[in-house]
Amino acid sequence: MVSNTGQSDFVASLKSALGQGTFVKLSLSHYVGSEKDLKKIDVRKIIVKREEKLSFTYHYKTRDIVKNYDIPVAVGMIQKAVLSDFKAGTLFTTQYDLVLDKNTVKEKPASHTEVPSADHDRNKNRLVPSDGSHYLRDLKITDPNGRVFDKAQDKFRQINKYIEIIDGLTKNASPDHFKNIVDMGAGKGYLTFALYDYLKNIRNIDVKVMGVEYRPDLVMLCNQIAKNSSFDGLSFAQGAIDNFNADGVNMLIALHACDTATDDAIAKGIKAGSEFIIVAPCCHKQIRREMEKNGADATLGLLTRHGIFMERQAEMVTDTLRGMILEYHGYDVKIFEFISAEHTAKNVMIVAQKKKAGKTGQAKIAADIDAFKQQFGVSTHYLETIV
Ligand SMILES: C[S@@+](CC[C@H](N)C(=O)[O-])C[C@H]1O[C@@H](n2cnc3c(N)ncnc32)[C@H](O)[C@@H]1O
Repeated sequence: MVSNTGQSDFVASLKSALGQGTFVKLSLSHYVGSEKDLKKIDVRKIIVKREEKLSFTYHYKTRDIVKNYDIPVAVGMIQKAVLSDFKAGTLFTTQYDLVLDKNTVKEKPASHTEVPSADHDRNKNRLVPSDGSHYLRDLKITDPNGRVFDKAQDKFRQINKYIEIIDGLTKNASPDHFKNIVDMGAGKGYLTFALYDYLKNIRNIDVKVMGVEYRPDLVMLCNQIAKNSSFDGLSFAQGAIDNFNADGVNMLIALHACDTATDDAIAKGIKAGSEFIIVAPCCHKQIRREMEKNGADATLGLLTRHGIFMERQAEMVTDTLRGMILEYHGYDVKIFEFISAEHTAKNVMIVAQKKKAGKTGQAKIAADIDAFKQQFGVSTHYLETIV
């Protein structure tokens, strides 16, 4: 009969370390199971949405996969793993290290004196925790231990702010209203990945997300990272926004797509009857040219004689008109600061949600649009020409 005393002691010590708050981390190695290319597992404690979990990093020959489990479930899995598939392991606590080798355990002096809690605390209130996300590592937001790189702190804050906004927006909406999502001008996909991961893996909604992007190198990179992360419902397509077939899309997003690419995206959303249209405009050139060419009224002339104020006025006129055109097409519109201007000047977000009542008050909105354009010397907003 084979004795399992070593494995039992190992698991009992794990439970005790977790209970006493002395657990640092655990690793399992010498895999003899049937899963192809699996080499080892590293386990550490994290906090997700204020709940303690154990995060497992499964190291395969060419990729890592991270999964988080509630602690009792995780302990059961570790017990099963040491009894069958892993012939070695080490439990690190602040009191000792315990090395499992086949059926025996050996205690060694602790190689860690502190529980690594600070990093986890930093994640406490974040909807996108830095720990345990493969895509955040591949996109160079975090190091392999889930620490956010100094130079990526702004981006990480932006990702979290964005997910908070989406969370608030969709909390009371039926999931059927945002299951088919397209992100126009997805770039390197930071926000696209976070959106998919949040809706699919935290909210457990069966979403499909597609990023559309001009640059083939970015599309290839993002598709590879989606595959490494086993994000089956996330994909990236190479192409131009105005060529994309948006039929059936019910959440359309375009963050920092350049100049009138934002309008191309809004028009796609309106024509598809998308429930949500969310854009954060980037540079604004079209309306500024119109305002400069046609001249605004006399008062406005004084306001725009300095280039910087002309720039700001043109931005406000462009985005106000975008909002009004969306209202004309039956949307409730909110425009607000997305993240602090300290982090990026491109910080205005336009969020449009289809009105339950459908299109109402169109004659009044159309008259307001005309009067507004006249006041600011605008003959046509590009968006009007494509919807
Ligand atoms: C400033 S980046 C923003 C990336 C991402 N949305 C973000 O906010 O992190 C804009 C991206 O949109 C892409 N882009 C701009 N105009 C586009 C268009 N008309 N069709 C497809 N992609 C476009 C650019 O190649 C670039 O990668």
